[in-house]
Amino acid sequence: MIGKSTKTVLLGLGLGLASAVLTFAPPAHAATTAGAGAGAGAMVDARKSGYEFMLPATQVLQRDDSQNPAMLWVKDGAARWSQIEGANGKSCASCHAHAKASMKGVAAKYPAYSSSLKRVINLQQQINFCRAARQGAVPFALENPALLGLESYVAFQSRGMLTAPSSDAVTVAAQNKGQSLFNQRMGQIDLSCKDCHVDLAGRSLAGNLIPQAHPTGYPLYRLAWQAVGGLQRRLRNCLVGIRAEPYAFGSEEMVALEAYLVKRAAGMPLESPAVRP
Ligand code: HEC
Ligand code: HEC
Repeated sequence: MIGKSTKTVLLGLGLGLASAVLTFAPPAHAATTAGAGAGAGAMVDARKSGYEFMLPATQVLQRDDSQNPAMLWVKDGAARWSQIEGANGKSCASCHAHAKASMKGVAAKYPAYSSSLKRVINLQQQINFCRAARQGAVPFALENPALLGLESYVAFQSRGMLTAPSSDAVTVAAQNKGQSLFNQRMGQIDLSCKDCHVDLAGRSLAGNLIPQAHPTGYPLYRLAWQAVGGLQRRLRNCLVGIRAEPYAFGSEEMVALEAYLVKRAAGMPLESPAVRP
């Protein structure tokens, strides 16, 4: 466990630093823990979106659709929605009609159990499954820009809605597996997700505030990527940062971590397309 005092670790967090000795500074946000003085029965939700850990200028970029670069991916996805692809001569719209209606709230519940695939999958995998099995097209590689466009467009239809994790038995098992991974120390630096995102959340690491790791903004535009990426890309950045072997895109471990993060964020509003540093 990491103590309350500052701890120095050797890190290369994928922030452009090959490696550097970094010091965790004390909390910048005093109010990251639930109000101890709250009266009996009063529940204070201490959860904060990564949005709240950003500089005001980055927050504006997210809030203003005319400036938010991620809107380009949403527009790209909108165009692809009605484009015929694959051997079956169908577009997404052929089956799902208007995304505004048919995709409303869908992103809020993923990862979810697929009765077709008999396993828990994330939203990108569901879209790719439709592309391959229903359109008869060659599936995209996960994180392919075209797939991110479609995912961004689908997620956009749930903006402002509340995260609503699936609760069937198979998804719950994945959430539990994700929780053990979250709490497990890993990598050469021997830190768990929890060490940083629970115990050190709100502190500064190499000039970045450590957020609480809520997945409410994905897919999102990351300034460091100069592009839109999915949640699993973000998780791989953190794994590389602690010098752990990153799980493959779409692997059971990645989906389990995603499922747990979504459960942990239950009831928080969806922000996609968000912006992050
Ligand atoms: C050494 C500390 C550290 C560890 C360990 C770590 N992360 Fe992170 N993580 C960060 C930092 C710092 C950021 C924000 C970087 C930035 O500002 O761009 C971040 C960002 C995130 C985000 C993005 C949140 C948002 O608002 O978009 C998620 C999700 C996340 N981490 C999940 C994880 C998971 C899951 C693990 C374990 C597999 C993990 N992290 C391990 C430091 C860590
Ligand atoms: C031939 C009809 C058909 C086409 C074409 C099709 N889908 Fe689907 N889609 C379905 C069916 C049926 C389901 C029900 C769940 C399942 O078994 O996959 C579904 C489920 C989904 C879901 C999950 C909905 C939920 O509530 O969980 C998403 C997201 C989705 N499709 C996106 C797309 C996208 C994006 C495209 C175009 C790339 C597309 N679909 C093309 C028939 C289609």
